[in-house]
Amino acid sequence: MKKYAIFLMILAMAAIGNQGFALTPDDDPADAKFPNGAKIYKAKCVACHQLTGLGIPNAFPPLKGSDYLMADKKRAVRQVLNGSHEPMTVNGAVYNLPMPFQVDTHQDAVDVINYVLNAWGNKGGTITLEEVKDIKIVR
Ligand code: HEC
Repeated sequence: MKKYAIFLMILAMAAIGNQGFALTPDDDPADAKFPNGAKIYKAKCVACHQLTGLGIPNAFPPLKGSDYLMADKKRAVRQVLNGSHEPMTVNGAVYNLPMPFQVDTHQDAVDVINYVLNAWGNKGGTITLEEVKDIKIVR
């Protein structure tokens, strides 16, 4: 009987753990469509922009539903390649902390931006390597 109770407890803990995982939606269609971008996002961007893509108010801007991101895909590619430090208004709120550069190649930059343009229900379309190859890496 005691063993059974312990078993139930483990099951309950696993269920709670799984709800935690529900916050990392691997069933987001963007994960399968842009696997390299999803990998980079989860390794690097989550720390600030969060798994939800909602960022942190007054510190890190949202990528989910971001008017700023949707307005200029190429600017977003430049930001992950070279970093960004300028006041910006995203969905009506001002952000001005520096974002360090995140990736070393144009391909990785395109992959992760195509991911965020389409994750969390975003419908931002895509950008090609061809469109961004003139961006100079400045460090
Ligand atoms: C250390 C925290 C941090 C990390 C890691 C980070 N960012 Fe940012 N991000 C910021 C900050 C801060 C800004 C605002 C920068 C500014 O004001 O110049 C920003 C702005 C942006 C913007 C433009 C604003 C918007 O919300 O549309 C995009 C796009 C973006 N980041 C994408 C990414 C991607 C993709 C990654 C991962 C490859 C990433 N960021 C990693 C902190 C971060």
